[in-house]
Amino acid sequence: MAIDDSISARITSSCPQTTAEILKAAWNHDVAQVSKLLDEPGKASLQDPLTGETPLHAAVRSCGPAGSSSSPEDESALEQAKATVSELLLWGGIWNDVDNHNETPGCLAHRLGQIALYNLFVEAGVRAEMLFGVLDGYEALSSGSEADDEDMAEADEPAHVGVDIGGMTAELEDGADAPDLVAANQLAADFVAMDEEMEVQEQPQEVQEASFVPPSSGADGEVKSERYLQSKLTYSDGKLVDDDGNGVMMAWETDIMRRSVDVLVPENAPGKRILNIGFGMGIIDSMFAETKPARHHVIEAHEEVLAHLEEPDSKFGTKWEASGPEEGAYKIHQGRWQDVVPTLLEKGEVYDAVYFDTFGEDYSQLKMFFTEYIPGLLESDGVFGFFNGLGADRPICYDVYTRVVEMHLSDAGMDVEWKEIDVDLKGLEEAGKGEWEGVKRRYWTLDKYRLPVCTFLG
Ligand SMILES: C[S@@+](CC[C@H](N)C(=O)[O-])C[C@H]1O[C@@H](n2cnc3c(N)ncnc32)[C@H](O)[C@@H]1O
Repeated sequence: MAIDDSISARITSSCPQTTAEILKAAWNHDVAQVSKLLDEPGKASLQDPLTGETPLHAAVRSCGPAGSSSSPEDESALEQAKATVSELLLWGGIWNDVDNHNETPGCLAHRLGQIALYNLFVEAGVRAEMLFGVLDGYEALSSGSEADDEDMAEADEPAHVGVDIGGMTAELEDGADAPDLVAANQLAADFVAMDEEMEVQEQPQEVQEASFVPPSSGADGEVKSERYLQSKLTYSDGKLVDDDGNGVMMAWETDIMRRSVDVLVPENAPGKRILNIGFGMGIIDSMFAETKPARHHVIEAHEEVLAHLEEPDSKFGTKWEASGPEEGAYKIHQGRWQDVVPTLLEKGEVYDAVYFDTFGEDYSQLKMFFTEYIPGLLESDGVFGFFNGLGADRPICYDVYTRVVEMHLSDAGMDVEWKEIDVDLKGLEEAGKGEWEGVKRRYWTLDKYRLPVCTFLG
């Protein structure tokens, strides 16, 4: 059903006066009035109780769909809209609050084609995520096919999507990508506002649950991973699903795996030393194996995946290990990569290509992997890749993550080239249908995948 973006539909007659005032000022891009009304923390993120409209939504929505041509009037109106959005963000407007259509202000700007406004939200998201990481390892995402988001959404949380990055103390200390003062002020405002919202504000009744949600304790990632590793798995119909119905790996990702192998082992050159973390359905490992590597190591932690590997029709397992060019050249390392990788480093193992695609872990684990272990594991001219599903259920989150990961990779001494590839969404359009039948959460919604090709800087 088409969304009614009119002011009367969005700022309802039951909206409290204080909220309606700021929503209307933001709708009219009346920056002076907006500033005047922002006299208490939390006001920039007030919401109409029925529609979830925030002042940021109002400032974007009133612009309407972007026109194909731009007149001087349009440009001046856009400048006013940008000034309004900036003012609201500066004073605690929350970039990832969702309304009753499950749209953040950035999603709305994206739908309306208001790219200049959209970019303001991406920047605000990046700043906020960097700050959350600096403060305390904001609850993080796992690698895409996620168990945890759904669980978190079940909690009684405020309605904003949380794209969460953990463990970033180094950024402020090193200064390399530290938020500047303005950003820090804005982030502090974000934080105050978010606190206020959590404590005071009632969630609009019709607001849908967010796909990602705000922080809990940093220990959660560990618990979720542990729970996943003990769960029962089912291999069926091109899917690997856990006992909560979460898609661990799905066949539609095969093309992404193919393209990843093509950049990790260019021209499928034989004789490479390869490390893959996370066997799953063995899709990428089958492709790696076809390149006839000199070394091919796999790390896998789940007992049922390990048992699957040993089944008679498996290409991997003991027989495959024995087929390597020398003892230990082809090997399934059983256990969590967190435990196995240090032993590989001790043995002096070095690889030309490393791929990382686990499940049930938050982003802090991926970050830890490339920051702490890649420098020792990867040959100086080697290539590192990972499954890039961070924030993949809405474009704004994907864009925010792209920037955040880029900064973290740079801190870790790595350059990343993103190869944008098309994702055929046929069969992936609707939750619970087609490919998603029997899978709890539609964790991928985008028609483009940004494939990371990471190499050492310099
Ligand atoms: C998304 S699947 C990998 C899919 C694989 N890329 C493919 O092509 O089929 C993730 C895998 O990582 C494994 N895994 C999860 N946490 C792990 C950990 N800490 N260490 C090693 N493996 C882990 C899971 O059991 C699962 O087999």
